[in-house]
Amino acid sequence: MADDWTPPAGDLMKGKRGIVMGVANQNSIAWGIARQLAAQGAEIAFTYQGDSLERRVRPLVESIGMDTMIPADVTDDASMDAAFDAIKDKWGKIDFLVHSIAFAGKDELQGSMVANTTREGFRRAMDISVYSFIDCARRASEIMPDGGAMICMTYLGAERTVPSYNVMGVAKAALEAATRYAARDLGPQGIRVNAISAGAMRTLSLAGIRGGKSLMGTGRDWSLLKEDTRMEGVAGAALYLLSDLGHSVAGEVHHVDAGFHVVGVPDLPED
Ligand SMILES: NC(=O)c1ccc[n+]([C@@H]2O[C@H](COP(=O)([O-])OP(=O)(O)OC[C@H]3O[C@@H](n4cnc5c(N)ncnc54)[C@H](O)[C@@H]3O)[C@@H](O)[C@H]2O)c1
Repeated sequence: MADDWTPPAGDLMKGKRGIVMGVANQNSIAWGIARQLAAQGAEIAFTYQGDSLERRVRPLVESIGMDTMIPADVTDDASMDAAFDAIKDKWGKIDFLVHSIAFAGKDELQGSMVANTTREGFRRAMDISVYSFIDCARRASEIMPDGGAMICMTYLGAERTVPSYNVMGVAKAALEAATRYAARDLGPQGIRVNAISAGAMRTLSLAGIRGGKSLMGTGRDWSLLKEDTRMEGVAGAALYLLSDLGHSVAGEVHHVDAGFHVVGVPDLPED
């Protein structure tokens, strides 16, 4: 999916350096965004979750002519300290951050939210999917003396109920609120914080949700455009929000879902 489009090339990110967090494989949303930013001249440091992912991520990173790869587990303060120290040592300052990270256990992503959400599962989903963005926003802002831009990834399950999305919907609602508060705190430093709400896309994360494939089908069939959410649209929105095209945009949750989010009732059969 990620490779059936060619990101438009240009200079919109020329001279800008930043961090992309959350590439696991070639289908990751973070990878589509990274390809687009690189095609527009950005220099990117990639963080990845741990050694087991390095083998898969390295060839991707090298394929776009980059080589900065740093392990970072968002649940581990020492790992986060080391990652941001490494970036500071290398570049001194950055211009952008992409946070494309979430996790909830398979047991939580099925059936009843009320019945299946454990205290530990809730804590883990909120820690990895929400607190990590707050933590990254703080760390990144400390190395953005000239201002900058940050984005995170969310989904309609924050705003409306979606089968099986459960605790992740609760976490995404918190992530969207965190986006607005971070935008408020960092705005005076010239740092714009926004979120992209993408439609369902075929990635590792989607595979963890019971009925995830049907979410894609419904997203397509009910959407205004009658099509799947495309990586090029998500990556294009990221380019807009992270480049100077996005001037004056802050605290926004921008939907890239073929219009699915505005549908209240799907098309009806003729009476
Ligand atoms: N796929 C979709 O349909 C969809 C739709 C809307 C929003 N999103 C969001 O997009 C983002 C990226 O997901 P994706 O669909 O590209 O799937 P993905 O599985 O490719 O990416 C998720 C990433 O989170 C990382 N991660 C998980 N736990 C981590 C930890 N402890 N430390 C560091 N990294 C950790 C994984 O390594 C992986 O790179 C997530 O926030 C997801 O909720 C996905």
